[in-house]
Amino acid sequence: MEPIYSATVSGGLEKLCCQEISEKCAQVRGGWWCQGRVFWSSDTFSISQLKLCERIFANLGVVKLQKIDQCRDSARLHINRILSKVNWATVMDLLPGISESQTSGQELKFRVQSRVSGQSRNTLTHGLIQNCVRESIQSDILLWEKKRSLCDLEIFVHWNDDRLIIGVPLGSHKVPLGIPKPGLRCSLAFAMSFVVRNFLHSDSFVLDPCAGKGTLIFEHVMNFPTGFAYICDIEDNEDCLTNLASLPPEKQSRVHILKSNVQSLPFQRKLFDLIICDPPFGVLHKIEQDLGVFYGTMLSSLFHCSKENAVAVFLITNVSFLESSFWDILKIYPVRHGRLNASIVVLKRAQRTSKKMKLI
Ligand SMILES: C[S@@+](CC[C@H](N)C(=O)[O-])C[C@H]1O[C@@H](n2cnc3c(N)ncnc32)[C@H](O)[C@@H]1O
Repeated sequence: MEPIYSATVSGGLEKLCCQEISEKCAQVRGGWWCQGRVFWSSDTFSISQLKLCERIFANLGVVKLQKIDQCRDSARLHINRILSKVNWATVMDLLPGISESQTSGQELKFRVQSRVSGQSRNTLTHGLIQNCVRESIQSDILLWEKKRSLCDLEIFVHWNDDRLIIGVPLGSHKVPLGIPKPGLRCSLAFAMSFVVRNFLHSDSFVLDPCAGKGTLIFEHVMNFPTGFAYICDIEDNEDCLTNLASLPPEKQSRVHILKSNVQSLPFQRKLFDLIICDPPFGVLHKIEQDLGVFYGTMLSSLFHCSKENAVAVFLITNVSFLESSFWDILKIYPVRHGRLNASIVVLKRAQRTSKKMKLI
């Protein structure tokens, strides 16, 4: 059976995304993924809770492509094969607001969006794909319209060296209580807490020591059990205040802000169960010290304010900076999104005896 939904996802997080889908959606069938995409079927419409999906589509069809398919005739053939089989009534049922127009017999206007990457980039133009879609749609109520503002729905055609995927986007699926001024991409911020969800409990103390706009803590307190959360940064950040002000009051009261240097944090005792951190890489946010020294001091400082069983999650371009006798690397998730090429790294606080501590 064809999957009902497909979604784009940051490269490297596809498997995690399938896990989130199976945890949040009831009766998931056939959750599978390929580079940058996940596919699944589910009876319930619980997709608004999915945070790792970037954009969700009502899936119209997917074809695994061969090398010989990278030509115009194959594009025509494959697009036609998919679209001529579509049961539009079923698709409309997935699109909020559309099914009413359909039952009242109104015509619906569609437009075509395409993205071609890989070998076919120069042969398959948007015009060609658009014509293939228009020729293939066998429905009296669906009419092609060029102007986006007049359209009821969009048909997305994604073609790369591996696959052709056609779908209709389900609009903005994100919950209304999104962060107003995100720094880091929200799906990545969510992913950083999701990878350690099994370590969290309702009393967990969480720290982001290089918080910037506070995106990591915002996504954390909105989606995961939290006792208290601390936002620290060496600089003041107006956007961070705006973001926190938009948290629901009961969540806001659990978040504290401190201006401090991650290398000399003002916490006197082992307080934190979880550290989530998107540290400066020395490009956008300059570091005066040698980066190796900066990270070494930071990891030691974080060790001293963490509980014995604490975990830490970093988003980092160079994993070797996290090799430290204070923390053990548990898991590395490489992530690619646009120009971002980094890793989400899960660390566990190293077990050290007090004797060793004194020697440091
Ligand atoms: C990559 S940004 C974090 C972005 C953040 N995740 C967001 O969503 O806005 C790194 C942050 O580290 C802060 N920073 C740089 N050096 C620091 C230090 N020594 N101690 C604490 N924060 C520091 C910078 O001010 C910056 O806000």
